[in-house]
Amino acid sequence: MFSVKNVVKRFGGLIAVDHVSFEIQKGGIFGIIGPNGAGKTTLFNLIMGNLALDEGEIRFHDQIISGKKTHEIAALGIGRTFQMVKPFGGLTVEQNVLMGALPKHNTFQEARKVARQIMDLLELTPYQDEIAQTLPVGLKKKLELARALATQPQLLFLDEVMGGLHPREVQDMIEVIRYLNREQNMTICMIEHVMSAVMALCDRILVLQQGRKLAEGTVEEVTRNPEVIQAYLGGEFKDVTLA
Ligand SMILES: Nc1ncnc2c1ncn2[C@@H]1O[C@H](COP(=O)(O)OP(=O)(O)OP(=O)(O)O)[C@@H](O)[C@H]1O
Ligand SMILES: [Mg+2]
Repeated sequence: MFSVKNVVKRFGGLIAVDHVSFEIQKGGIFGIIGPNGAGKTTLFNLIMGNLALDEGEIRFHDQIISGKKTHEIAALGIGRTFQMVKPFGGLTVEQNVLMGALPKHNTFQEARKVARQIMDLLELTPYQDEIAQTLPVGLKKKLELARALATQPQLLFLDEVMGGLHPREVQDMIEVIRYLNREQNMTICMIEHVMSAVMALCDRILVLQQGRKLAEGTVEEVTRNPEVIQAYLGGEFKDVTLA
């Protein structure tokens, strides 16, 4: 369904993404893990056309999407959330979700219906009239997800949606992601440091380290991989939370 082939991104002398290749199968939940600075967010920025790649190719349904503009990529049915959440701070929760829904719908009524369904799913309805920038982090993360869902993607890229959440909120988020995948047939790719969520959700994992692919496979294969274990024990993955 989706593939990244030999992708390279350089920032001056730094190679942030170094010949990375992987495929995402339709219907799956694909995880990307790795220490701070491994190149995970840069990879999402390349996929969504926020940054230009230096080498390689990205395909969605056999169409080359590398080189396309962000709005063209979004229109093909690919959505993403930002690690640094990007709501329109001065707008309400409902207005923010509507902004995501409007381009995909012919009438305001249809867009509002979709926005309300998404707010219900994420339990954001009680906060619909709150101003986005005043929300606590857990609700900001939910709003970030709601804005991405409002574009009705087939393939959704999540950049650390569990970051900063309480254990109870992590559990809720796991259930929402599972529901989107199983009941709404959404294919998901998630960057995540919270390993319990990765293990609960992902059918395949890619491990990045200093821009390179360190390992790829099922949760079992990756957690048994000697190079991954060495990297963990060596303290390289100190930011990864196991709880
Ligand atoms: N726009 C940029 N200009 C220059 N260097 C950048 C830019 N964006 C990222 N980098 C560098 O590229 C490397 C990869 O950064 P990236 O944000 O992709 O890491 P990450 O794996 O998402 O890390 P984290 O887990 O902390 O979010 C880092 O060394 C970072 O400083
Ligand atoms: Mg990042």
